Amino acid sequence: MNTMNEKFIWPPHIDEMGDVVKKYINEGNPLSIADDSGVYKELETLFSKLHGRKYGLLVSSGTMALYSAFFGINLVPGDEVICTSYSYHATATPLLHFGVKIVFCDVEEDTGNIDVLKIEELITSKTRVILTNDQWGHPCDKEGVLEICKKYDLKYVEDCSHAHFAEYNGKFVGTFGDVACWSLQGNKLLSGGEGGILLTDSQEIFERAVLLGHNLKRPSNSVKTPEFKPLERTGYGLKLRIHPLAAVMVLHQLERYCFNWINSRKVTLEYFERRLEEETFFKSMTKRTYVTSMGAWYGFKPRADFEKLKINKKHFVEWMNSKSYDVSLPKTGVLGDYQIFKNNQYILYNFEKNESEYPCPCAHRYHEQIITFPTFTFHEYEIIDSYISAIKDYMREYGYEENM
Ligand SMILES: Cc1ncc(COP(=O)(O)O)c(C=O)c1O
Repeated sequence: MNTMNEKFIWPPHIDEMGDVVKKYINEGNPLSIADDSGVYKELETLFSKLHGRKYGLLVSSGTMALYSAFFGINLVPGDEVICTSYSYHATATPLLHFGVKIVFCDVEEDTGNIDVLKIEELITSKTRVILTNDQWGHPCDKEGVLEICKKYDLKYVEDCSHAHFAEYNGKFVGTFGDVACWSLQGNKLLSGGEGGILLTDSQEIFERAVLLGHNLKRPSNSVKTPEFKPLERTGYGLKLRIHPLAAVMVLHQLERYCFNWINSRKVTLEYFERRLEEETFFKSMTKRTYVTSMGAWYGFKPRADFEKLKINKKHFVEWMNSKSYDVSLPKTGVLGDYQIFKNNQYILYNFEKNESEYPCPCAHRYHEQIITFPTFTFHEYEIIDSYISAIKDYMREYGYEENM
């Protein structure tokens, strides 16, 4: 259990994980897998089956899962992609390597997810894809996005890296898009240290994704389309395989721990939220009625209208840190603000970036309102109680009670 003075650590220690990895090695299992067999097959099959999807492909990272997805749907220079404006940068950075225009869409001010009401005005004859994230585990409006995709014949790419097994009206995220991607990096609910996976029902997307980053026997086994057969040995030349030991770790977590973690994180964070909302100036994270599970609930980010309350957010964080409480300003930012997206100096393809085109005021307002608390998962109620007491001390010390 984390004490108040310790940083929140994820993934949690699993006593037998060392033995699981050792067993895999000692049994002489391969440390390089050139096809779709062994632990790759087991994990891809289980993850696809849990989501009811036809094809699964493990890769080296979530970033590369997204890159493979964009290659899978055959994005070409000149295409336009409408992308949520608030996420980890890697939701969108792989797009820069395709020469497409990224069109950032503003988000809902209370969830940080793409605002479907603002998508249609951004569609042009060049738009090919809508790209969403399920911010901190809260599914975005899947039906809303799908309706627009259907109306304009667009592909839907889901970045589910924050939201393993989160549910939209009882259906897992990652079951809505033409292709869905997850990170399996160290901080994620399922973690191989590094890794990623994509799921799709489209044979074409799958085969192109396989060919992009997998060579030798994998394309021979996975690629059926005659047109692609000549690429069997070489693929398209990149190598994006996950390390087999990372896959072993993820498989073990998925089989033994993942759903228990989801359940205990839910109970623990709901307790934290309730106390914050009832006793301090923080509001719970918004949950739309279609959210039937927050799943991985990747980040715990309560909101407060600091400006209206006249509370200096930075001062609050520093004060909490001075008392050894693990809170911080959110590191995720508004995507259009990053130099990589707005500065022509860093251009990879020949189109002009225009920083003033997509101001995304709600993304900025969302960002200003949230604070990062530890994503407590294992019923750390005593520690949570001490966080609440500390916040109340702060309010008392700085006379904020009358603002509540
Ligand atoms: C929303 C989102 N997308 C993509 C990624 C990239 O995943 P990876 O670090 O495995 O490349 C992350 C990683 O934090 C993420 O949070």
